[in-house]
Amino acid sequence: MNDALMNRNVPADLLQTLKSFNQLHLVQFWDSLNAAQQQQLADQIRSIDFELIQTTLRKGLEQTDAEPQANRADKAKAPASVVRQPSSDADAGEWKRAAQLGEQLLKDGQVGVITVAGGQGSRLGFEHPKGLYPIGPISQRSLFQIFAEQILARNRRHQTSILWMIMTSDATHSETVQFFQAQNFFGLNPDRVVFFQQGCMPAVDASTGKVLLESTSAICLSPDGHGGLVSGLSNAGLLRQMKDEGIQHVFYHQVDNPTVILCDPAFTGFHADHQSSLSTNVVRKASPTERMGVLVEVDGQTQIIEYSELTPSQAAKEDETGQWIFWAGNTAIHMFSRPFLETLAEEGCRLPLHLAKKRVACIDENGQPAPPAGSSELNGIKFERFIFDALPLAPKTLIVEGNRDREFNPVKNGQGTDSPATARSALSRIGRQWLKVAGFNLADETPVEISPLIALDSDELNDAIKSGVCSLEQLLGKN
Ligand code: UTP
Repeated sequence: MNDALMNRNVPADLLQTLKSFNQLHLVQFWDSLNAAQQQQLADQIRSIDFELIQTTLRKGLEQTDAEPQANRADKAKAPASVVRQPSSDADAGEWKRAAQLGEQLLKDGQVGVITVAGGQGSRLGFEHPKGLYPIGPISQRSLFQIFAEQILARNRRHQTSILWMIMTSDATHSETVQFFQAQNFFGLNPDRVVFFQQGCMPAVDASTGKVLLESTSAICLSPDGHGGLVSGLSNAGLLRQMKDEGIQHVFYHQVDNPTVILCDPAFTGFHADHQSSLSTNVVRKASPTERMGVLVEVDGQTQIIEYSELTPSQAAKEDETGQWIFWAGNTAIHMFSRPFLETLAEEGCRLPLHLAKKRVACIDENGQPAPPAGSSELNGIKFERFIFDALPLAPKTLIVEGNRDREFNPVKNGQGTDSPATARSALSRIGRQWLKVAGFNLADETPVEISPLIALDSDELNDAIKSGVCSLEQLLGKN
């Protein structure tokens, strides 16, 4: 192919790069492309770090899959220090003090929010970005609307104007921005909502390591994982902006959990009080084999072990007191200190790339769609960075136990566990619990929806009902 290509109009720098990394097939359809298509392909090729891909593939393939991980799991211990849910008056006092500190930090404008919303949401099977998913049990409020209303409510409660940074990807950016514009930013000041894009990585052929083409003029690209956050923030100038604004603490959450308590004052307070670089909210796993990453200590360092790294017997392992070692499930709710994010960015984002074998729709050397329809072949390898790989790099970490029923009800799958049905039913259940405190006993399964603009917690709901701000009928969708 080389000689023939030399006669074609492929820019010399591309030819040289492709030749040295054995990727010349990427320009094999060059002559059939128009100028705009050639430009698109050239830009994509120039954006790829072939060296990094080659090294990562080599390292990934050299590892005998289970060996180093098995070692890590064997050495792992349950985290030594966790701020547990309050179980005594003294604990309750600690949580209250932490919440007061968190509220003060919010009031002082020291807290920002990051929502990562760049994923492709393939398990859910929704044809739009996941944040647009209509999750409200009665109103069909979207996930984004719930978060926006929480931020509005916090702004009002703490007389502040929280900076909301939403990470999108090529796959989700335009639709997400258009959605916010069409909804008038849900009443938020548009200047305080910033969208920034993460990077992308090419997929490669699982057997040859060659970068896959999606069409004759485009490479198969996908978002580079939630760990793309660090360079995304830095490239968008947001680390600078946060510093200029005096934001010290950044609340991080994923787009798929409608019951997350954004900027949770107690979590924020504990994080700040411990001068933690990276804090993590954990909940007790429902069963040892639940598909959740777990926080552990390995050689004195806080780390996450993915569920896929544990055999069922490892996952159920107990310590000498009979407690599960791998109990502390990661809810993917974190607080970062802004200086730690800066350090990560300055050090050129040391988060490692992970390889995952996936089915990738592409074209073959004849320009025909591959893999063939009906085949379940995992033909490709995708590369992703994970934000929790920042944990072992953090000078100081903190683990805080959350209230699982209240805070962690993610939407991952179309049906079954962690689906829209389970998340809606959790939203209603929480609403019924708050209404019970206000004196209303509702039958199980009664759909209830409480906008964060009405109440962020049961005390606030109680006040809202007593003062006539809202009625039971309204919360049941009956007027
Ligand atoms: P998941 O790991 O659940 O991936 O992302 P996903 O893309 O949403 O769903 P599947 O695996 O394809 O079904 C957890 C969170 O990380 C974000 C997602 O938007 C979600 O909030 N994420 C994931 C990104 O922002 N970028 C990515 O590249 C990947």
